[in-house]
Amino acid sequence: MSKQAVLKLDDNEFAFPTIEGVEDEKAVDFRSLRSTTGYVAYDEGYGNTGSCQSEITFIDGEAGILRYRGIPIEQLAEQSDFLESSYMILYGDLPSQSQLHEFRSRVRDNAAVSPLMAEALKGFAADAPPMGVLGSMLGALSCYNPELATNDRAVDLENFDQAAAVAIAQTATAAALAFRSSQGKEGNAPDPSLSFGDNFLHLMFSEKGQPYEAIPEVSRALDLMLLLHADHEQNCSTSTVRMVASGGANLFASVAAGSAALWGPAHGGANMAVIKMLEEIRASGDDGSSFIEEAKSGQSGKRLMGFGHRVYKNFDPRAKIIGKACEELLDKMGIDDPCLDIARNLEQAALADDYFVSRNLYPNVDFYSGIVLRALGIPADMFTVMFAIGRMPGWVANWREIAMNPKMKINRPRQIYQGPALRDYVPMESRG
Ligand SMILES: CC(C)(COP(=O)(O)OP(=O)(O)OC[C@H]1O[C@@H](n2cnc3c(N)ncnc32)[C@H](O)[C@@H]1OP(=O)(O)O)[C@@H](O)C(=O)NCCC(=O)NCCS
Repeated sequence: MSKQAVLKLDDNEFAFPTIEGVEDEKAVDFRSLRSTTGYVAYDEGYGNTGSCQSEITFIDGEAGILRYRGIPIEQLAEQSDFLESSYMILYGDLPSQSQLHEFRSRVRDNAAVSPLMAEALKGFAADAPPMGVLGSMLGALSCYNPELATNDRAVDLENFDQAAAVAIAQTATAAALAFRSSQGKEGNAPDPSLSFGDNFLHLMFSEKGQPYEAIPEVSRALDLMLLLHADHEQNCSTSTVRMVASGGANLFASVAAGSAALWGPAHGGANMAVIKMLEEIRASGDDGSSFIEEAKSGQSGKRLMGFGHRVYKNFDPRAKIIGKACEELLDKMGIDDPCLDIARNLEQAALADDYFVSRNLYPNVDFYSGIVLRALGIPADMFTVMFAIGRMPGWVANWREIAMNPKMKINRPRQIYQGPALRDYVPMESRG
């Protein structure tokens, strides 16, 4: 029998069951709170709300732990790759050789977007923001693949393998199309002989008579970047995907909503903000120390971008991995990036500073991912799009978890109304 939590309200006591996760996370099950007490749980920002029970990703923010389907991110970064980890995130277990082969083929064979969709892209303004274009194209997948997006759960689940491959593969293709169109260039056709990451770089950078030449270090860094972003539990965009999915919407509509949620600077836009900050520090001639002081004072409204996390109150394990990969990549490619020196100074200074230490502010994944992306030749306004390509397997897996749950209810939080109390309509002629 699970422990009970007792809530005392006025002179009455109410008992609520508790739930324990496999890693000892504890929750009070308040689902009957309103019907038994007349109260609702108030938790603006959802910092204390478990919105679901999920089997996909585990995070222990205090200990700096991240695991996909139970496997530590460090092991996956070392031994797996983006598509293999994606398979596991989607389906629950590491694939056999034949399962992986089939999955890779399905992703590869679905990389080309419909010619009609590529044509539609030309209707966007040349300076359209890449995330705006990507979100529109993700939503439009349901228009060009209507058989995969029926909003009939049984049919959509039957077609899940195909729809998941389309979502993962065509996000990358649509992202590259958005980039090329912003440059006034025609899109490239996917190259099925290339790995997922190399194909993306080819889609972005191949020119007529000048095909993109894959560099192993670059391929590995891109794949690692995508793998590290593949899922992250109930963040803002993933929760959005689940919210939309809970209403019965198809996969493409749900992930399009997720991409809109990712767009904001507090979520997927932080990697861009890190580069902007490092560039500004460089341009001002500061080595980082004045900026640290400004960020601490809080008066300039500046924050040390890439530091701090709502969940991690310790090192973000992804930051450790990508920080190391970043150094290796720049070394191997012979890139001398002054922004990296500033980033190192900032990191060292902040980790030794009581302001940051006492608030548990450690580097997060965005601190280094911007530098890696820059070294790969990806422009800053594409950084959030890169995050979306990486996060797609997580969004898809979360959609599937909702779709496969026969007891799933539509997600519908409540509110505490604080507007005007009951009042009468005043006809126009009587208004002052
Ligand atoms: C990620 C973030 C939004 C998490 O915020 P949070 O957990 O809600 O923490 P809060 O905003 O409540 O901040 C707690 C304290 O730390 C300070 N703080 C948090 N992040 C800070 C940063 N990056 N630089 C300077 N001070 C920071 C706050 O000013 C606050 O100080 P106070 O207690 O004296 O008022 C926040 O750390 C941040 O803005 N980081 C920079 C942006 C970023 O890298 N985002 C990517 C996240 S993956």
